[in-house]
Amino acid sequence: MKAIALVTVGLVGSIVPTATAAKIKINTSSKLQRIDGFGFSQAFGRASEFQAADPELRKKALDLLFDTKTGAGFSIIRNWIPSTTALSIEPNSPGLASNKPNYTWDGDDEGQVWFTKQAVSYGVKTIYADAWSAPGYMKTNGDEATPGYLCGTTGHTCSTGDWRQAFANYLVQYVKFYEQEGLDITHLGFLNEPDIEVGYSQMQISPNAQEAISFIPTLYETVKRAHLDLRLTCCDAVGWDSQANYTNHLMATGMQKYLDIISSHMYSDDATFPLKTNLPTWLTEAGVETSTAPFTTTWYDNGALNEGMTWASKLATGFVDAGLSAYLFWEGFEIGQNQSASHLVDVLGDEPEPSSVYYAFTMWSRFIRPGANRIAVSGALPNVIIAAFQNNDKSVIAIFTNSGSSSQLADIAIPAGKKPSAQVWLTDNDHRVSEINFKRRGSSIEVAIPPNSVITVKFSSRL
Ligand SMILES: *[C@@H]1O[C@H](CO)[C@@H](O)[C@H](O)[C@H]1NC(C)=O
Ligand SMILES: *[C@@H]1O[C@H](CO)[C@@H](O)[C@H](O)[C@H]1NC(C)=O
Ligand SMILES: *[C@@H]1O[C@H](CO)[C@@H](O)[C@H](O)[C@H]1NC(C)=O
Ligand SMILES: *[C@@H]1O[C@H](CO)[C@@H](O)[C@H](O)[C@H]1NC(C)=O
Repeated sequence: MKAIALVTVGLVGSIVPTATAAKIKINTSSKLQRIDGFGFSQAFGRASEFQAADPELRKKALDLLFDTKTGAGFSIIRNWIPSTTALSIEPNSPGLASNKPNYTWDGDDEGQVWFTKQAVSYGVKTIYADAWSAPGYMKTNGDEATPGYLCGTTGHTCSTGDWRQAFANYLVQYVKFYEQEGLDITHLGFLNEPDIEVGYSQMQISPNAQEAISFIPTLYETVKRAHLDLRLTCCDAVGWDSQANYTNHLMATGMQKYLDIISSHMYSDDATFPLKTNLPTWLTEAGVETSTAPFTTTWYDNGALNEGMTWASKLATGFVDAGLSAYLFWEGFEIGQNQSASHLVDVLGDEPEPSSVYYAFTMWSRFIRPGANRIAVSGALPNVIIAAFQNNDKSVIAIFTNSGSSSQLADIAIPAGKKPSAQVWLTDNDHRVSEINFKRRGSSIEVAIPPNSVITVKFSSRL
């Protein structure tokens, strides 16, 4: 009811008359990439931290992250498949690769079982489980936390044998343990940033991805034999440019028949161009590198990496220029970690508090639901990225990301064949996903887009 009333509100609001409005047309007959959703992780103990929080505060934080009406409506979570001995489902080496494994399950998985159940209770259906490494004894270096390769992959032989089948079995077993908990993992990955060397769980692949290419078919067959409905990802590279290279090698060797998603991070390079693949591409981890910038609620000051407006631009560029189907931030909830902007919600006083980055995501994730398609838009405004989407319920979402220092005026044609109600939300330095008024002009609406802001427009059919 509120939406219908707003349409007839007319001239109320702070619309400053400016030059003529640019005409924007959304083409609901066009169909660009599918959108799978938006998400984050609680890996590396953050799920346990979340679980252990005060129940009232915890509920508020969950609402902020997952509620589709009042929160960000995140629709994907990314869990890690631990390879550290204390947490692994196969802590002890069976000796030889061909020996029978001894799996173990604590039903907790560092709080990730609890966290996954919470996400599912809010309607999240996309559960991505990703291994940072195989257990150390399956690797050339015998250690899960130093650089090394999976034994048996191209170019890497080990005295204990070829561990490819054992690693595939181990990954499938992890998924089965979740099944026991009543949780369906939907996406499975086996790498995390294999293109850099770090001192925590990790596994390398070569620039030509030969190790991944010699493992993926085994993983695919193993998943199939287990009758699991799982989609496989590769390779969660540290940045878009190196994932672009991996993708070229994966496609040239026919891996598209086994894989479902090409996945990348953005630490070394942002997603700014489409990868050469017909598979959907996901940005599976994005963040502000630890200790380079503190947690902040400032939307826009100078374009620093921890500001919401910076992330608004990254999201718009990712979906429009790189053709992304999903965008995941690193962590969701942490407590008292304001030195770092690697998470979206913190507790600095008594209450969970979103960072400005959280609001950049919310302008997209609350409105564009899984299964939507991006659709074409015509018309342009200086310094504004325009993206449009159609949800499965036929509602149309248009997002205007104005990274310029002047206000712009858009005359947005109401999508054809509809008698829609329209609603408009604004995030800028003074607003956080605030519903605002606009002018209706016959078959279009006129919306002012302030400097350094995001405007989200929703057209939905009248009920
Ligand atoms: C809308 O998109 C469809 C499908 O791509 C295309 O055939 C049609 O010409 C487009 N309409 C306009 C007005 O651009
Ligand atoms: C399997 O591992 C568990 C510990 O995770 C251990 O208690 C048990 O003895 C092992 N069983 C075999 C047959 O090695
Ligand atoms: C991608 O491959 C090209 C060509 O081999 C190479 O020059 C470039 O350095 C690679 N980029 C990355 C980030 O690996
Ligand atoms: C983090 O919070 C503490 C306590 O509220 C405060 O003293 C400190 O200045 C904050 N640090 C940053 C980087 O915001």
